[in-house]
Formats: sequence, structure tokens, C-alpha cells
Amino acid sequence: MVSNRLPVTLQRGPRGLESKRSVGGLVSALDPLLRRRGGSWVGWPGTRLRDDETLDETGSEYGLHAVALTDTEVNRYYHGFSNRTLWPLFHSLPERARFDRRDWEAYERVNARFAEASTQRLDPSRPEHNLVWVHDYQLMRTPTGIRKLCPEARIAFFLHIPFPPPDLFRLLPWDRELLQGLLGADLIGFHVAGYARNFLECVDRLLGARVDHEASLIEFGSRTIRVGAFPLGIDFARYQSLAEQAAPATRAGRERIILGVDRLDYTKGIPNRLRAFERLLELHPEYREQVILLQIAVPSRSQVAEYQALKREIDEIVGHVNGRFATASWSPIRYLYRSFPQERLAALYRDADVTAVTPLRDGMNLIAKEFVACQVDDPGVLVLSQLAGAAERMPEALLVNPHDLDGSAEALHRALSMDEPERRSRMLALRRRERRFDLDAWGDHFLEAARTPEAPLGLVRPEEFEAWLGAFVEGHPLALFLDFDGTLAAIAQRPEEAAMTAGMRSAIETCAKRADTEVTIVSGRGIDDLEAAVGIPGLTYAGNHGFEIRGPELEDFRHAELAGFAAGARELIPKLEALAPDGAWIEAKGPTLTFHFREVEPALHAELARNARSEVEAAGFRARDGKYAVEARPPIAWDKGSALLYILRHRYGEAWSESVRAIYVGDDQTDEDAFRMLAGLGFTFRVGEFSGLTEARRLLRDPEAVEQLLSWLARRPASSP
Ligand code: UDP
Ligand code: G6P
Repeated sequence: MVSNRLPVTLQRGPRGLESKRSVGGLVSALDPLLRRRGGSWVGWPGTRLRDDETLDETGSEYGLHAVALTDTEVNRYYHGFSNRTLWPLFHSLPERARFDRRDWEAYERVNARFAEASTQRLDPSRPEHNLVWVHDYQLMRTPTGIRKLCPEARIAFFLHIPFPPPDLFRLLPWDRELLQGLLGADLIGFHVAGYARNFLECVDRLLGARVDHEASLIEFGSRTIRVGAFPLGIDFARYQSLAEQAAPATRAGRERIILGVDRLDYTKGIPNRLRAFERLLELHPEYREQVILLQIAVPSRSQVAEYQALKREIDEIVGHVNGRFATASWSPIRYLYRSFPQERLAALYRDADVTAVTPLRDGMNLIAKEFVACQVDDPGVLVLSQLAGAAERMPEALLVNPHDLDGSAEALHRALSMDEPERRSRMLALRRRERRFDLDAWGDHFLEAARTPEAPLGLVRPEEFEAWLGAFVEGHPLALFLDFDGTLAAIAQRPEEAAMTAGMRSAIETCAKRADTEVTIVSGRGIDDLEAAVGIPGLTYAGNHGFEIRGPELEDFRHAELAGFAAGARELIPKLEALAPDGAWIEAKGPTLTFHFREVEPALHAELARNARSEVEAAGFRARDGKYAVEARPPIAWDKGSALLYILRHRYGEAWSESVRAIYVGDDQTDEDAFRMLAGLGFTFRVGEFSGLTEARRLLRDPEAVEQLLSWLARRPASSP
């Protein structure tokens, strides 16, 4: 298990380090799970440990491993990005969110640290037998960090809070980075189907990854990722038995009790609840001196200004309502600002007449479930916000909109006046479901899914192309730009071995035969080599990363400044040869060249690339990383993007984007220039196992998917002349 919080929080007090049980739904869920199943837990202990201090594991039934954070990191990663950016945004309260680049950078750094700490717990001899389960919004970049360090590991992620709809998620300047961070996992779980749908929608729209919305699968790089709803349950049997054993919660009084239990958090809707209770006393004076609201607020994140302001607001409302209605022998609100152990909570739940769980937004909410489990005597009534995830599967509760004060007051009235048969019917149904879908069932269900590998998605279906491109290409001529190696032909050990399949060749030929379609092949290869490798006459070819262009109705183009670099490139060859171990070789292309090392032992790649880059730069060329290769290019401001624009303008004129639709398909870093050039002007695809961020609009898995695309384009209805 990996989460920001460990089940214990350390604090430095007058007597040295003190250890407390952490509060919150995450710890409530994971601690019993680990106790029963074993494993270890990696997380932040809540304070800085000195070198001579370690986490006290006495009494812990599983391993605890501390990730140390500096004070600045706590400020920026935890109080900052986690709790002032993601927390409000994901709870649909964007006006409370602050966006600060330095917070983001700290989040990124700390997430990488969590990834490192997690992989240290893995058994290196059997990485695929380890399961790393990462939790919650503080660690959304951690799965990809673990994947990088340990490509074979099984990684699962669960989000304990809501996932917002795309229009809210997009407010985040680092939206794509977060999605990509999560996609390092094999399984991504949410509490309810709506959050999973929001996530899939964001991945589809913002990353351009292929999503099967019905099957809830994502294709990303070479992996298939499952997304699903796994509604969290509670340890029902334990709460029930605590409730059966606990002494009475309060001294026997005449008053009936409405109970509220929350972390002191603005998402929990505590002020609304207090006001709804005030409204109840206004509308129904018969409850005065008969009912109290017992509100427990557990201190939380008290260093964040919003939480301090909320504390003051609650103090004020409590003072106001008590001042307004209290009598010599009765105060309407009993307000307790501290946390309670589960044993005490169980008694309070059992003895409450009504529990009001009225968050403005909540991922799930366990209080509602714990209350239900503790109804072992005369059943009480649950009043539940329809904006809590729990409401999806608790329809028998009295559901309220917490923003509707009158409605909430009426629900409290209805709850207090409900007769016994109705209370029993509702509670029985609630209890049955929670008993059946308890914490253990949740753990089994999730872990089973986490351990089951997914089969790859099938071929791209015509409906998918239609959805991506249908409106874009409809009725227009098409200029198709296709990279060769890795896009049209699978990468081979040596360039001369790369070849297109017969299906690919025929799809290209059919496209090129259409009067409304022009095909250009783009490549880092020299132009003659490229033309020979493709071998389809009548196409346009752009070789040497676009420095050379040749095609029908175009004057042969060779960049004017190019000739001056041929001598320099020749001199670079022996210098690179001197670096090259067995298996590395140089592809000379006149004024440009490529240093290939695909066949060299992988452990040497990074250093080889570094050395090659510095030789290339020392010779006055630009170095660019390719696939198992370093390219040396003249320092001329010209790339695949410039070549594409040159062709479009020469063939279709300045206003080309009005008369033709441009599509570019490519597979490597040098194609990013073309993607950037076409952003907003055309449609772009990045092909291959790449799992980083691209400027291309959509991702395609492999040349086979490109073949589907070209076949689909070849068959599209002709554009009007
Ligand atoms: N809790 C607790 N002591 C308290 C108040 C709450 O142990 O005094 C526990 C409670 O039993 C529940 C958790 O804190 O398991 C709150 O979880 P929930 O999902 O409702 O809210 P979260 O804190 O995760 O937002
Ligand atoms: C919620 C979050 C948890 C968090 C808990 C307590 O339940 O989903 O990730 O641990 O609140 O908040 P804290 O900031 O104290 O860890």
C-alpha cells in the first residue's frame, strides 16, 4: 500500500515524538485490510524524523515505511497542491482552488520520491509477482513513476475522492500530466461509475488515448488499462459488534439526538447542516427542548487558511443558534471539536435517532455506512446528501440537497417523526446491502481485478475513426502526410530491412489514386533511400527530415543552406565511429547523419547517447534523440513541420487550410514538430508504444492501426469538386 498518510501520525510534543491514529476514510479502510491480508504500507509519518529516530512498528501487524518530507515539501505538496488545488477542484469547488507552479513542481518531485520508496519494497527477483497499490489524489503521478523504475510491476490505483467532469478537470494547468501519471497503473478504481466515466472522458479528450467506454478500457503505449467502479465498504461485522457491546453514549436524557460526525472540512457541509437545524427549530417549535444536534468535528488540515476560516464560521453559527434558542436546561447544539475512537463512535451511532450526513460533495462517506452498521436496537434514520458517493447505493436513506435549507429541515423533521415500521424497513434494506458489500468484499473485488491482466483492445473500429475524423474530413480534399519508419513499416534492426505489409501498400495506393487525396511520405531517411523503400510512384517524398522534397507539380526542393554542412557531417563520422561499440553504426545522409545503437546492449544506451550528443554539438550540429539513435542535423531552423507547411503552401496556396484538410501520422520525437505545426490547423496521430505526452491529437498503437486508418480514409465518400 502506498498513500500519503500512514495509519499513524507522529507529532513532536513536549514529551518527544507522540504517535496518534490518523483520521479519515482512507486509513479507516486500509488499516483493517492490511491487518487481515498482510503487506506493507509506505507513507508520510506526519512529521520529520531525525536520523536517530525510526517509525515505531511495535503493535503494528504489517510493515510501515516512512517517506521523509521537508517542511517546504509539506507546504507545497501537501498543504499546497494536494489540499489547495486538487481537493477543492475534485470536489467541484473550483473557486477555492489555487494554481501555483511551484506547488505543482513539489508535487511532481514528492510523487517521484514515493515511487522510489515503493519500488524499494518490491522483490527485485520477481517484480511481476508484486502488487503495488497506490491511493488517492496526493499520489496521482506515482503510478507512472513506479512503472518507469519497474516496468514489470503490477500497479493499481484507487481514488478516494470524486473525479470531476472534464470541464472542471480542464481548469488544471497540469491536467494531462496527472492523467498520464495515473496511466502508469494497470487498474484505476473509483468509488462510483460516474467518477470512472468522467475519468475515461478526460483520457479520451485530453490525452487522445483510445478508450473503450463500454468495456471501461484504455489503450496507452503498449498496455491496456482497466478502469472501474469499486464502491468502498466498511468492516460491518466489527461496527456491529462494537455497537452491541458499547455502554450508552450519553447520560440518559430526555432529548432525542441528531448526530453529525465529520472531519472539519468545507466539503462536509457543516455550516449548512447547522443552519438546516436552526430552520427546523424555527419551523417546528415543538422540537425545542426535545432534540439536540450533537456535532463532532475532527480537527483536520488546520494549517490551511480555508480550514481555519471554516472553524471560525462554525464557532459563530453554533454560538448564534445556541444563543437564540437555548433555555436554562437545554442547548440545541452540542459541539465537540476533537476526534473519538471507534468504540465511542459506535455507541453514538447506535444511540442517535437520526444521523445527518450532508456533505456538499464527498467521494463516498463512511460515516453513513458506519451508522447503518451500528443500528442494532431500535433503528434510527439516515439523512444523506445526494452529493455523497454513498447516496448512489443507499436509496433507502432520506436523500437531501444540502444547499436546500428548507428541504433539509423538512427531511430532519420527517426523520424525527418517522414511524417504527418505516424506519425498520428502510434500515433493514440499508444494513443488508452494507453487510454484503463490506470492506472485505471490496478488497477481494479490487485485488482480483488488479491481478488479472487485460487483453489488448481489438483493431480500431470504423466508428472510432468516424468519431475522431468524420466531421473534419467530410466533403474536403485531403493532404495526407505519413512518416515511414515506425508508422508505415515496423521498426527493423536495420533501416534496409524495414518493409510495409501488402495491406499497407494497397491502402496507400488506394488513397493516392483518389482525385481528392495527395499522399506525402516524410522521413529522416535520405530522399532516394526513402523513395526506394516505399516504392510507390506518384507520391510526394520529403526526406532528410524535410530538407529535401520531391513530388508531382512541385519543383524539387533542397534547403539552400544545406550544402554548406556536407563537409562538417563528413568530419563528424570518424568521431562518432570512435565512440561506437560493436553493433553501433552510422547512417550518412550527406549533410545530416544518424548514429544508430539499437543492437548495442541496453545498459550502454544512455551513456552512448550522451556522448554522441556532445560530439554532434561540438561539431556545430544539432543533436536530436531518435529511437535508439541520435540524429545530427545542421543548425538550420527547418524541420518536418516546416517541410509540411512548404508543401501545403506550394500546392494549395496561402489559404490552404480553407481548401484542404491536412492529416499527419508519425511515430517519433522528430514528428512532434509537425504535430505542433498542425495544431489547430489539421489532425495528427502519434503511433507506437509511446506513453509520454505528445502534441498529437490522438494515439494509435502500431502500424496495423495506421493501416486501418488509411483503409478508412481510402473508402470515405468522395469530396465534391
Ligand atoms: N472517524 C474517527 N473518529 C472520529 C471521527 C471520524 O475515527 O472522531 C473516522 C470514521 O469512523 C470514518 C472516517 O473517520 O471511518 C471518516 O471517513 P469518511 O469517508 O466519512 O470521510 P473522510 O474523512 O475520508 O473525508
Ligand atoms: C480524506 C482523503 C484521505 C486523507 C483524509 C484525511 O479521507 O481522501 O486521503 O488521508 O481525508 O486527511 P489528511 O489530509 O489529514 O490526510
